[in-house]
Amino acid sequence: MNLNTLDLTHRRGIITGAGQGIGRALALEFGRRGGHLLLVGRQLATLTETAQLVAAEGGTTEILVEDLTTPGAVDRILDAVASWSVVDLLVNNAGNVRAGRLDHTSDADVHAMIDLNLTAPILLTKSLLPALRQSGQGRGSILLNISSGIALVGMPFYSVYAATKSGIAQFGESLRRELIGTGVHVATVYPGATDTAMMTSQNAGADLGWERRALADVITDLIAALAAGEHDINTAPAGRRSMQELNVTDPLAVDAAMAPGLAALELAVSDHRSI
Ligand SMILES: NC(=O)c1ccc[n+]([C@@H]2O[C@H](COP(=O)([O-])OP(=O)(O)OC[C@H]3O[C@@H](n4cnc5c(N)ncnc54)[C@H](OP(=O)(O)O)[C@@H]3O)[C@@H](O)[C@H]2O)c1
Repeated sequence: MNLNTLDLTHRRGIITGAGQGIGRALALEFGRRGGHLLLVGRQLATLTETAQLVAAEGGTTEILVEDLTTPGAVDRILDAVASWSVVDLLVNNAGNVRAGRLDHTSDADVHAMIDLNLTAPILLTKSLLPALRQSGQGRGSILLNISSGIALVGMPFYSVYAATKSGIAQFGESLRRELIGTGVHVATVYPGATDTAMMTSQNAGADLGWERRALADVITDLIAALAAGEHDINTAPAGRRSMQELNVTDPLAVDAAMAPGLAALELAVSDHRSI
């Protein structure tokens, strides 16, 4: 594979869901490299904490308190960066999850996941593309979409979440091809279960195939892969990778392997909710 390394220093851009978890950790990484970041999320308190942490690392920030699923959110984000001469980073990270059998999932939760995990990043990317293209003329712009390992192996009781995460992954792949030669580097991250607040209400452990990785380890791998110029960044633990490979060659074998543990998994994820 022909990879061109990416310079992650002095990036100027937007990180959604920057108040905690993966979004905050990425803000720290770009901040440490001299970045200037617009931190977007619904809670001023957590965004302010991220801003302080980024400042301690040498980066600078602006904060925009915004629910990405509300009408006009994209316009308000664009307004916030309108005076910037360069916007060469967009991290579509904000996301939510509700697990459970499809027929037990409320319509409101279906809409909440699709609105935040799929519609919001597509609309934001669409509106920011001219700026990313223009800013990417030199060393390139970065569009980083946070998908999930669930886009590589669909998990029972996560059908809607899986739909959104597969959707954002294929959105990125299509766009990467559409944007070839424009200087916009499109990368998709496929995190496996990662130790963040999103996972606190999920009780499936390694015995059910849900080995969790520490956030710091996931971020180290992610940043190294991004800097190396990778487009598809898989941070899954080793155990899950063999299942991902089997899912390509023999998906029904994965069905069979999961079947005996279905009842235990359904129970373990029954409270999993971050909406
Ligand atoms: N943790 C995992 O195991 C895992 C695995 C695979 C993929 N991922 C993906 O990684 C991304 C980050 O996950 P995480 O684990 O860091 O989750 P998290 O700890 O729950 O953080 C989610 C972030 O999104 C923001 N957010 C939620 N709803 C929002 C809205 N309507 N508008 C604006 N911001 C909103 C939250 O801030 P506010 O509450 O302030 O809005 C928060 O900062 C998500 O896309 C998730 O699907 C996570």
